[in-house]
Amino acid sequence: MKGIGFMKVLITGASSGIGREISLLLTDKYDEFVLVGRNNERLEETKKQLLEKKNTLNIKVVSTDLTKDENCIALYNDNKDVDLLINDAGFGDFGFFAETDLAKDISMINTNIKALHILTKLYIKDMVEKNSGHILNIASIAGFFPGPLMSTYYATKAYVIRLCEGIREELRRKKSKVKLSILCPGPVKTNFEKEANVKFNFNGVDSKYIARYTVKHLNRFYIVPQFKVKCARLLSKLFSNKKCAKFVYGFQSQRKK
Ligand SMILES: NC(=O)c1ccc[n+]([C@@H]2O[C@H](COP(=O)([O-])OP(=O)(O)OC[C@H]3O[C@@H](n4cnc5c(N)ncnc54)[C@H](OP(=O)(O)O)[C@@H]3O)[C@@H](O)[C@H]2O)c1
Repeated sequence: MKGIGFMKVLITGASSGIGREISLLLTDKYDEFVLVGRNNERLEETKKQLLEKKNTLNIKVVSTDLTKDENCIALYNDNKDVDLLINDAGFGDFGFFAETDLAKDISMINTNIKALHILTKLYIKDMVEKNSGHILNIASIAGFFPGPLMSTYYATKAYVIRLCEGIREELRRKKSKVKLSILCPGPVKTNFEKEANVKFNFNGVDSKYIARYTVKHLNRFYIVPQFKVKCARLLSKLFSNKKCAKFVYGFQSQRKK
């Protein structure tokens, strides 16, 4: 149970990349952190970095595999009263759909979609009841496009965007004060490339920049860092899905490692 006036954030994917960098920028407003990922050592490193910024923080590290429903549910049951939920955990995979590994696809769907869905559902119920709270779901610019050569990954991010767009309207109709945001970055320099077997053909942006932009614009629904990524989003509105798929294939095919 947190103390009165204390603000609590739970962040999945806190062991590296965008998740770690965002958590490091929340020390002014949040006193309690729940850092979630599978790699305990890297989570402890995030904890250490947070404590170096502010040594009075109350930090809990939860090493768990979010591909399993029961782990997501246990995470919620053990960590209630969250003011800000950040669903950041996720990864991609590169290759022809007919050739990539089914087990990796399923693990990706379980992480990028199912875990995010379960946690959003469980926490939003409490937030709606309290009429306060904020959920930040990490999507991607990929979610606005069909994604040949990363079809499963793009589809998982489209799910995140569509889910949140629906919930946003429901919250508006209820005049709820609960806030929802989706972060839609372009390529970012993290462990993502290694996990997905891709090489970004134009330099990925620094995850520290993405984190700064995100925290600064947390009051927005769509958080789309970088002018060129905003332009890409506009393209997805101007051109047919068929044309977009051809365009995406063109640049994805140069990303093979
Ligand atoms: N990098 C990009 O270009 C880019 C662009 C747009 C969107 N995104 C999205 O940004 C988010 C963060 O990715 P990133 O770029 O920061 O890559 P990253 O450095 O590889 O971080 C991924 C995080 O997800 C966690 N994770 C993965 N599978 C998990 C599982 N089964 N259970 C628990 N935690 C799990 C990882 O923790 P453990 O390894 O400790 O489990 C890690 O902390 C992802 O949703 C990604 O799709 C990335």
